[in-house]
Amino acid sequence: MQFHFNREKILIIDFGSQVTKLIARRIREFGVYSEIITPEKLQNLKDFNKIKGIILSGGPSTVTKYKFQTVPKKLFSKKIPILGICYGFQLIAKLHGGKIKATKKRREFGRAAISEKRKSPLTKNFFQSKKNVWMSHEDAVIKLPKNFKIVASTKDSRLTIIENRKKNIYGVQFHPEVTHTDNGNQIFKNFIFSICKIKKNWNVSSQKNKIIQDIKNIVKKERVICALSGGVDSSVVALLINKAIKKKLICIMVDTGLMRKNEFKHTFKIFKNKYKLNVRLINASKFFLKKLKNIENPEKKRKIIGGLFVNIFEKESKKIKNVKFLAQGTLYPDIIESRSSTGSKTSKIKSHHNVGGLPKKMNLKLLEPLKEFFKDEVRVLGKSLGLTKKILNRHPFPGPGLGIRIIGNIEKEKIKILQEVDHIYINELIKFNLYGKIWQAYAALLPIKTVGVMGDSRTYEYTCLLRAVTSEDGMTADYFSFPKDFLDKISNKIVNNVKGVNRVVYDITSKPPSTIELE
Ligand code: XMP
Repeated sequence: MQFHFNREKILIIDFGSQVTKLIARRIREFGVYSEIITPEKLQNLKDFNKIKGIILSGGPSTVTKYKFQTVPKKLFSKKIPILGICYGFQLIAKLHGGKIKATKKRREFGRAAISEKRKSPLTKNFFQSKKNVWMSHEDAVIKLPKNFKIVASTKDSRLTIIENRKKNIYGVQFHPEVTHTDNGNQIFKNFIFSICKIKKNWNVSSQKNKIIQDIKNIVKKERVICALSGGVDSSVVALLINKAIKKKLICIMVDTGLMRKNEFKHTFKIFKNKYKLNVRLINASKFFLKKLKNIENPEKKRKIIGGLFVNIFEKESKKIKNVKFLAQGTLYPDIIESRSSTGSKTSKIKSHHNVGGLPKKMNLKLLEPLKEFFKDEVRVLGKSLGLTKKILNRHPFPGPGLGIRIIGNIEKEKIKILQEVDHIYINELIKFNLYGKIWQAYAALLPIKTVGVMGDSRTYEYTCLLRAVTSEDGMTADYFSFPKDFLDKISNKIVNNVKGVNRVVYDITSKPPSTIELE
């Protein structure tokens, strides 16, 4: 199969937890290949040969109802070690005769102190001086299933870790995959290496040649187009395909005019001159500005920008003859169908747009060489392809760009002001050695003018907002704590250098309840 890695693996059954992807990431970070599948897909899985261990994830379901998400009971007799996490743990207990109760009294959210009750191969070197685990559950296992033993307890959950060592089945009520659990990685290390006895078999950069060969085999003599944004994903896709088919890859960069100062043209030059890509730059800033005139609603802006991007890309690609493939930077997290496994509909917060979301009606075959990889793995691939550090370590930048960072009405003058502010902000972060410590930083322009005083004169100008967050995957985020001297410096420098701004504010909300972008 294309871009598929047929090797020994740890299989993760996804019951819809928000953090299932982290389990797979942790395991791959230890050099072991892991894959996520839904319980539905598990039903049809015939070949368990390469599966050396199974992890049942957490999820919103409850085994206390008549109908609940489950796995075939025969999974437990395949002699493959199994670890259940949170819901996965409750499911193991339920299927082995334990008792689970939905009780408000026993629910635990947040950190809980854990204490060891007996030694277990799962918890070797786990109980160090700090012993907090991260809990997020309402149901609790209140009766131990037959042939299981208690390994650890918290104040509110007597059954926090259980084991059936003979059958190699283990369950933990907490989430070892989140960083709030002290030493949580040790649980995975013990499970995969000591219990599953799987050998290290995953090294991202060594996959590079296989991917390039796969691309050659799939594309043969045809041509491929690719929307290049200069972000890490599309850049790595372009470099990989370029290595495989050279000039038969045509990259299109659509300049929306909503990019950071100088960034797009600079990126274009790098790809054209340094990497010798066949790349076309389309300046469409006037169209974007025209269509966005007087549009204040964030969702409308997103739809207009996304739609226009697709139209322009389609128009340009029609000018190129004999194209058979459209390359996209789809990543592994994009294709994990955890939502469909729970059947739950999540509320739509924002309509995301990125160059990966191009229309299917283009009648081109999709080429998605990164679809088995996580973002941090893509960075490793990029590094081994010689991608410049500047692009490799660039903070995420949303498809709609500055369009969703100019709050309210978008005007040419506002774009210029924001580009200047953002440019100063990012450069100062680099100078202060802070850029690499922050997951994402940017400046936004607020639609309010306030009074200030400069020299002896009154000013009445815009307010800009600075945002900087730490995060693991953008799903949750904490605001970054700047040293005071940086805040002093940055506010001075912005107000003194950017005409049109007389006030700087720093956003100190986390996600949730805020989001990272303002619109
Ligand atoms: P929010 O604002 O939802 O953002 O907390 C989470 C992450 O997603 C990025 N983002 C986008 N990325 N197209 C993208 O490619 C989009 O439309 C988009 N909107 C938000 C955001 O910058 C942050 O990294």
